[in-house]
Amino acid sequence: AAEDGLAAWLRYARVDNAKACLGKLPSSIVTLNATKGLPVYTAGQELAQGIQGFFGKKLDIDEHDERGKPRNNRPGKKSNAVTVGTVAAYKASNPREAAKVPELGDDGFYLSVSRGNALILGQNERGALYGAFRWLALLGQGNCSDFTLASTPDAPIRWVNQWDNLQDGGTHGSVERGYGGDSIFFWDGYVRPDLTRAGQYARLLASIGLNAVVVNNVNADPRTLTPELLDGLARIADEFRPYGVQLAMALNFASPQTLGGLDTFDPLEDKVQAWWDNITNEIYRRIPDMAGYLVKANSEGQPGPMTYNRTLADGANMFGRSLKPHGGIILFRAFVYNHQTLNQTLDWKADRARAAVDYFDGLDGKFLDNVVVQIKYGPIDFQVREPVSPLFAHLVKTPTAIELQITQEYLGQQAHLVYLAPMWKELLDFDLRVDGKESRTKDIISGKRFNRKLGGYAGVVNVGTNTTWLGSHLAMSNLYAYGRLAWDPEVTSEGILREWIALTFSDDRKVIDVITRMSMLSWPTYENYTGNLGVQTLTDILLGHYGPNPGSQDGNPWGQWTRADSDSIGMDRTVWNGTGFAGQYPPEIAAQYEHIETTPDNLLLWFHHVPYTHVLKSGKTVIQHFYDAHYAGAAVAQTFPTLWQSLRGRRGIDKERYEHVLYRLNYQAGHALVWRDSVNNFYFNKSSIPDELGRVGNH
Ligand code: GCU
Repeated sequence: AAEDGLAAWLRYARVDNAKACLGKLPSSIVTLNATKGLPVYTAGQELAQGIQGFFGKKLDIDEHDERGKPRNNRPGKKSNAVTVGTVAAYKASNPREAAKVPELGDDGFYLSVSRGNALILGQNERGALYGAFRWLALLGQGNCSDFTLASTPDAPIRWVNQWDNLQDGGTHGSVERGYGGDSIFFWDGYVRPDLTRAGQYARLLASIGLNAVVVNNVNADPRTLTPELLDGLARIADEFRPYGVQLAMALNFASPQTLGGLDTFDPLEDKVQAWWDNITNEIYRRIPDMAGYLVKANSEGQPGPMTYNRTLADGANMFGRSLKPHGGIILFRAFVYNHQTLNQTLDWKADRARAAVDYFDGLDGKFLDNVVVQIKYGPIDFQVREPVSPLFAHLVKTPTAIELQITQEYLGQQAHLVYLAPMWKELLDFDLRVDGKESRTKDIISGKRFNRKLGGYAGVVNVGTNTTWLGSHLAMSNLYAYGRLAWDPEVTSEGILREWIALTFSDDRKVIDVITRMSMLSWPTYENYTGNLGVQTLTDILLGHYGPNPGSQDGNPWGQWTRADSDSIGMDRTVWNGTGFAGQYPPEIAAQYEHIETTPDNLLLWFHHVPYTHVLKSGKTVIQHFYDAHYAGAAVAQTFPTLWQSLRGRRGIDKERYEHVLYRLNYQAGHALVWRDSVNNFYFNKSSIPDELGRVGNH
């Protein structure tokens, strides 16, 4: 039902063997110094709701004040309890026990369950809520055993980006690259009067450890900063606050001019700085816990500091200065490139992939300490296969965050099942070998590798008003995985999935096994039928990034090229003969990508221009690999509906969600055939090389 979609993995449905746990559960909940509207209070409510849902056991909530004394006066009751609060509050009432709690980092929690008693302590308020949700996730899988766990998130920045427009009428509707309906925040140019969905969203995000949401599009509307809108944003922040989720906002760099009426937006002009200081103060007056700003500058037509020949650091630092007194941070995007000047035919060395490192060259060390550079995982744009952005290796003094896309812009737009955790983990685990030392992306962004305090994760989620949030029930595994990985990149893709399935559908073995199987196959499958060997997702480049259109990849100024002609294909990004992009990596990695022999097959066409007859490490030619992979991928997609049908009537697979998912998987199966034939025919027509198995072309 619609409520199941909305509640997603927080349905708190009865667990299979509820009775087995009953004797091991506490009989009341104690909250320490809870304030209604803040996370510890919320944690108490969630624990009550969850335990009732999972096991049918109703628990009372006893509120204790800051000295640890009961507030609601039910003295004498000394039964088993789950106690939830901050470490500090626990110290006030129980100093001796509190001394045994291990040291926790920001947002961390301590969770100890023993013989019907549970202790959930947060390093801060939201840490306590994270701990409560973690225990609930285990209980929801029927796991009521005793254990002790201290957990601190791997990185402080665990943000969500929503690309919501203030109003409809943009070419992409009211959420740019959103496939789940209109904005849950904005309507008709204003913040919605009813923000119920904003609160429900924050609840989902908090349950997986995410701590801030940028609520408006990176292609930001200057009107966001008008008093009416700021008042509205404050109402959104009020909905978020009970869950410890902070509001953040995207800014339009030219606002001082377009909105403020100044004759300039030059970041080095005092009056421009003063304008931003002032508006920032205005925002913090309304939203004292605002997390910070996100800025897309000098990219795809957006204004920025380079408009005045200032550096990107000059631009970012301007916001850093305004935010500093309020403790806010600025996420400054590395997605900087000029989408109009690239000329494919005339310039063999033109390469959009180079842009980030080229533009940020020389700026490391020039940023204020509350500036974080937000870098898309790959150098181009959320493709099915990209090497990790080399910029992660260049910014040593500057904190960085990785930008991932939960919304599946190039990846099937939620009409195709593509579980992305395996791809993200490959990127996060990649070792960039900075200074010849182990330098995994995840350790760079968390701050560990270069000893930085800030850094982390930004996920473009783009939920909408649809009751499935993203447009598809199965796509929600990506949001779940994003949160779990941002907290702890060591958890396995499959482990995350099994947990998500149990909570979203049920812990029926077969349900878990089948959805796990489909999901784990889905990324390689999608890669097989949409774009192989690092050639990128061969979607339509100009219209919506959906459906096959390999021809549209070349001859445009956007620079996501394949350089396919009648004998050869691929971008030559070598230093010796190509765009030089390979040389942007640290020496060990650069050397690897420079040569065909040491470039993995799955990135061959990203780095090299080769004949269709080039023989891969696998022993196949490039063209035959294309043909075979497209057949193989499409064939796997044909099995998804059947797999899903095997779950019909199983526990947790209600009719409505069953039908909804089946419809999408049938569609995907059909569309995979369209993909297969369009791409294969395209390259057959280009190359005139027949398929060894005689499947492609005219017969
Ligand atoms: C992609 C996407 C745009 C978006 C841009 C960005 O190009 O298609 O819609 O604005 O990325 O990340 O800024």
